[in-house]
Amino acid sequence: MRKPLVAGNWKMNKTVQEGIELINEIRPLVEGASAETVLCVPSTSLYPLGQHLQGSNLKLGAQNVHHAEFGAYTGEISALMLKELGVEYVILGHSERRTFFAENNHSVNKRTLTAVKHGIKPIVCIGETLYEKKSEQTGQVLTTALRDGLEGVEDFSQVVVAYEPYWAIGTGKTPTLDQIAIVISFIRDTIGQLYGEKNSESCRILYGGSVNPSNAEEIFSLLDVDGGLIGGASLKPQQFAEIVKAAK
Ligand code: PGA
Repeated sequence: MRKPLVAGNWKMNKTVQEGIELINEIRPLVEGASAETVLCVPSTSLYPLGQHLQGSNLKLGAQNVHHAEFGAYTGEISALMLKELGVEYVILGHSERRTFFAENNHSVNKRTLTAVKHGIKPIVCIGETLYEKKSEQTGQVLTTALRDGLEGVEDFSQVVVAYEPYWAIGTGKTPTLDQIAIVISFIRDTIGQLYGEKNSESCRILYGGSVNPSNAEEIFSLLDVDGGLIGGASLKPQQFAEIVKAAK
């Protein structure tokens, strides 16, 4: 059985103090929720917010990790460093990283394997651009991302895949429910073809891109959808809590 998961992606928002205030608001609202709930906070907040989350059912997530264990990589953070702070999840290959920081399936693959090796669950983001959608390349783009980005992963119960169409992120636009259902089932089938049936069944697949309290429940009720990756709405306590509660 796959446990539902809702992860908030704070992106480059909230100072430590603001983060503490946000958590103080979120925490009572999500008490008793059945979904595993993760807050992916900025690197500078990982330590203090990790301390602040102790004793709650909210888990700590990071927004990236380097593939090397240590070394001359100015500005980067290793899996060991994250692990030491209690980080349980890490977002990898977000479209913003791919667009602005030249990440690709190859770099995502190396980071994914490093995260898994150190017991941090990667949330690997894949999705098509608007151009790719219009030119009917979605299937090809997702297949390549799954093949190249997840190569070498042995146990997909330790990996989360987030389907996030580029054009749905932060835009208020989402695919139709039918489209989400078709694409997420396609992702699960493709994982099965590439990595075997057992992995296809154990991998949690999230939808992300303009999820809000009014569309969360119907999206999360789709057969193959195991929860969501939430950007903008994760910074709004009431909205985030409603989305978390919609994942059962
Ligand atoms: P959004 O972002 O919910 O604001 O569309 C999702 C994401 O970037 O992961």
